[in-house]
Amino acid sequence: MAYLQDTIEPLVSKGLLHFHVMGPLIQDRLKNGGSETDLSRSSWQDNWFVCTNKRSVSHMERNQKEGDTGKSQILNNAAIFIAAGSGTTASWLSASVYYILANPDVKSKLVDEIRNAASKRSDLNLDIVNGMKYLKAVTDESIRIMPPILSTFTRVVPRGGVSICGKYVAQSTVVGVNHWATYHSAKNFKHPDEFHPERWLDVVSEEFAGDHRNALQPFSYGPRKCIAQEMASMHSKLFLARLFWEFDMELAPGSRDWAQMKGFIAHYKIPLMVKSNKKPTLSETET
Ligand code: HEM
Repeated sequence: MAYLQDTIEPLVSKGLLHFHVMGPLIQDRLKNGGSETDLSRSSWQDNWFVCTNKRSVSHMERNQKEGDTGKSQILNNAAIFIAAGSGTTASWLSASVYYILANPDVKSKLVDEIRNAASKRSDLNLDIVNGMKYLKAVTDESIRIMPPILSTFTRVVPRGGVSICGKYVAQSTVVGVNHWATYHSAKNFKHPDEFHPERWLDVVSEEFAGDHRNALQPFSYGPRKCIAQEMASMHSKLFLARLFWEFDMELAPGSRDWAQMKGFIAHYKIPLMVKSNKKPTLSETET
């Protein structure tokens, strides 16, 4: 009972708070057009921009005139996009920063890759970042070891039943795959509780050759998979590349055990404390 209270109560109260905060902001954007920077103070700016920029809103309003989408749907969709997109991406980024800093060899290889790719931080664009194999391996391993969605999002078996992994499953059965369990199973990944970006490189060592890489589906799979997988991946890689290009960071002593957090659908994140300095050679003209 206490467990349910600890898990469900924060979800309900934070969910209500989210709608309470977002509702007036979204209404204001719909009424006054807002500006593309009106939420720049917040971490949801980019997701907000996607769902309420003038083109998306006018598209939805056009549909509304045609009877498809009402204001309440715009409101709900915008609030869902922001909820679905902000905590998840923040979790991925925090996990990446934590595991990079907790593994000095990884940090050193990654910083070399990033700093060798660009002499100015502003040169780090998506084309360059997408070519960084080690950064991709680090982000894949971060989302495996600490997936932003931990739990099971279910599906209902359709009429007639289906065959799953060679076994018949009757219609109306509720089925799902748990992210955390799948990514931490030794049946899928060697040393599943350890952080090894090397397992995701094109040329993989014998040690990780038996990994079932396809088991990693943190954005889900099939027609209802995440609509923003590419955007979230691009954001995260660009953010990390620019962060590690510019700052020399180390974990603050109080955050050494940061990954030992409780979670239910997602982790109940605690602050990740790091010490950071601008990299020594950075001149003002490079910022
Ligand atoms: C690391 C970042 C993210 C992760 C790990 C993630 C994960 C997921 C997962 C697992 C689902 C499938 C849920 C299901 O099985 O029913 C999903 C769906 C969805 N995600 Fe994401 N997501 C991320 C970022 C985002 C962002 C940035 C947005 C919006 C801007 C977003 C919007 C959505 C929406 C709208 C759906 C529902 C799609 C549908 O039902 O057709 N997500 N996401």
